[in-house]
Amino acid sequence: MNYGYFDDANKEYVITRPDTPTPWTNYLGSTEYGAIITNNAAGYSFIGSGANGKLLRFRFNACYSNLPGRYIYISDQESKDYWSASWQPVGKSLENYQTICRHGTAYTEITSQYQNIETSTLYYVPLHQQYEIWHFKVKNMDTVTRNLSIFAYSELTNHKLEAMDMNNLQYSQYISRTYYKDNHLMQYTNGLSDDGCWRFFGVSKASAVGWDGSREGFLGTYGSYSTPSAVINGACNQTLNYTGNSCGSLQVNVNLEPQEENEMVFILGEGTDEMASQLLNHYKNARVVQEELFQLKQYWHSKLEAFQVQTPDSKFNSMINVWHSYECFVNTYWSRTASLIYSSGRNGLGYRDTVADLQSIMHLDHKLAGERLVTLLSGQVSNGGALPLVRFDHIPGTEFLPDSPEYQQKTGYDNYRCDDGLWLFEAVLQYIKESGKVEFLDTIIPYSDTGKATVYEHLKKALEFLLARLGEHHLLIAIDNDWNDCLKLGSQGESVFASFQLYLGLKIFQELAHLIHKDKDLIWAESHAKELYSSLQTHCFQDGQFIRAITKDHHVIGASTNEEASLWLNPQTWSVISGVASPKQAEEVLDKVDKILKTEYGALLFYPSYTSFKLPEINMAVYLPGVKENGSIFLMAEAWIIKAETMLGHGNQAWDYFNSTNPASYNDKCELHQTEPYVYSQFVEGIESPYYGRAHGHWLTGSASSIMLSVVEGILGVRADYDGLIVQPCIPSKWEEFSIVRHFRNKTLHIHVCNPDHVEKGVTKIVLNGEEFINSCFIPLCKMKELNEVEIIMG
Ligand code: GLC
Repeated sequence: MNYGYFDDANKEYVITRPDTPTPWTNYLGSTEYGAIITNNAAGYSFIGSGANGKLLRFRFNACYSNLPGRYIYISDQESKDYWSASWQPVGKSLENYQTICRHGTAYTEITSQYQNIETSTLYYVPLHQQYEIWHFKVKNMDTVTRNLSIFAYSELTNHKLEAMDMNNLQYSQYISRTYYKDNHLMQYTNGLSDDGCWRFFGVSKASAVGWDGSREGFLGTYGSYSTPSAVINGACNQTLNYTGNSCGSLQVNVNLEPQEENEMVFILGEGTDEMASQLLNHYKNARVVQEELFQLKQYWHSKLEAFQVQTPDSKFNSMINVWHSYECFVNTYWSRTASLIYSSGRNGLGYRDTVADLQSIMHLDHKLAGERLVTLLSGQVSNGGALPLVRFDHIPGTEFLPDSPEYQQKTGYDNYRCDDGLWLFEAVLQYIKESGKVEFLDTIIPYSDTGKATVYEHLKKALEFLLARLGEHHLLIAIDNDWNDCLKLGSQGESVFASFQLYLGLKIFQELAHLIHKDKDLIWAESHAKELYSSLQTHCFQDGQFIRAITKDHHVIGASTNEEASLWLNPQTWSVISGVASPKQAEEVLDKVDKILKTEYGALLFYPSYTSFKLPEINMAVYLPGVKENGSIFLMAEAWIIKAETMLGHGNQAWDYFNSTNPASYNDKCELHQTEPYVYSQFVEGIESPYYGRAHGHWLTGSASSIMLSVVEGILGVRADYDGLIVQPCIPSKWEEFSIVRHFRNKTLHIHVCNPDHVEKGVTKIVLNGEEFINSCFIPLCKMKELNEVEIIMG
């Protein structure tokens, strides 16, 4: 079933049916002011952090028809009929209510028609500002004059801490009150304490004739979002909040002649009365909204322009050119802190997640990626370990150690995880190659607790920390866990996956040591890599597959003879990615993945799922079979099978894995995934689930980040190098040609790839601005002009 389409020219996803299987959302704003909005205008806003800066309240897990949001209601003063400018919350019959939602890059526009009245609401956060705009237009398409009342409603939190607002009512209800003055409501919360703040909700370009600052005043004591008493009665009740729930609701009356249109601008934010008045004045100027929207589009579109593709697959193009890339930015901004699934429990950047996120935007905005990288390096502890969560208000040099009670109290995490620092190696290398700044290695960055060191030393410290934690089989000890949060291997269990990562880390470190002539370090890392290699080969390859882990009691996880979870995806893919698997082993293990784990919706994380709690380490057994870390199609891991297949030159197979997990592939069968077809979800239920194929965990997920890397560097094969660009595609053989526009070090390359012999991998010739390079897939920087035409022949 189809609920919408990709409008590539406008870089929008257009939802043509509002009764989507789940609320399909978009992200507005920036790290200063974030906002989530669904296709039916539900959602919430937050300043700085979803956990500590909630402005608009949200009720996670409420029924979809009963979610708070940014609602605008219209009531007809004659007929007394009323509806909302988005299909929900009033939910008129779709037989006579038409609506379209256009999600764009940091804006959403919802246009609706009902009873010959057309409305459109554009929602956005102006660039670099900490407030949001709801630009509302209403047009009379009737042949007679229509007298309408417009009501805008926003439900403000009483306390900006999510937990206080939702749970501590005996406190939060007594600290917030509202006032009304000149077209705007002001709310004050938290008295004169440090946490105290003013919020405003006002209307510009129109005169408010009524208001309510109390939620019950607007909705009615037993009212709801679909039956607000003020709207039913055709008039706000002029209530204010004192010891209850605040809201901002404003009423504007409009009388429209046939074909007449009226507009008004609602503004919501945090700030003083003075600021609110200034803004209301500012938006009286008709051009402001149009200019701001233009700037917003320019800002985002220019970021996306850094990498654009035209391939024979239009869904692939829509995703890479707009939505997948935009999702990667959203992930980099908000990590895993605010969505309809993440209810702000975490107040910061998950270490490994954020490294993956920043890597995914390296080719689009390496400056932003570099800033995040520096933040994460400052989240490394002076002993070489890393903070599992780098809080949004992180102050390097002052943070507690991850295994301290204070850190646990602040973040909920109580120990190091063995893999966090390991993600840095590829990220640092990627940043150096993208930016051309080898000197980044010399940048001095503080540790999270005390002291400072160069980036190079940070990396060395990370290796030292981990090499001091090798177990009985000379493999990396998990400490708490590795990439898989549910595999609690503890202080003695050894992780094979993380050992592959450590091996790759040592390899990258050797490359860097060589680059800056640190010969002793090079030899040191080489010898450790050698030992690790032999442990991995000696203890971990059995019966044509790599095992996943060895517990402290010597149970082998992921052995082919196990009753449950007898083949795991990650150790197979990472044996190839790390370079540990021999060419023969690599073919063998990926072939096994193809036979046992590959499904029509992607590869399973392992098979069969756990149904018993035989080992204490197996925390994922808590999940239903085929769900989350218990044998689902966990899409972040899908990235690595795509990458591994491209490393072996299997373009068709890599494409198969990619295509079966690309959300856009499900655009015409949305009943299956149910989540947005324009963004990645965290996982898809596996074959053991009765709902095999259903997706969960939209937007904020490592799936988008890691798959982006595998697509750009693996399938399209475009990778920055120290002094040039490598283009080594690994594509489905049916592709005859495709093209890429790539920005690289202030230069633009128009790359056209021809595949006359229908191969999956292999470049025979590169022609750069007329100059031929035979048997090379490297485009040297020194030969690049500002604008470059590149012809690449595969064969
Ligand atoms: C979630 C977490 C990520 C973890 C993965 C597997 O995606 O955000 O950090 O690696 O689950 O457990």
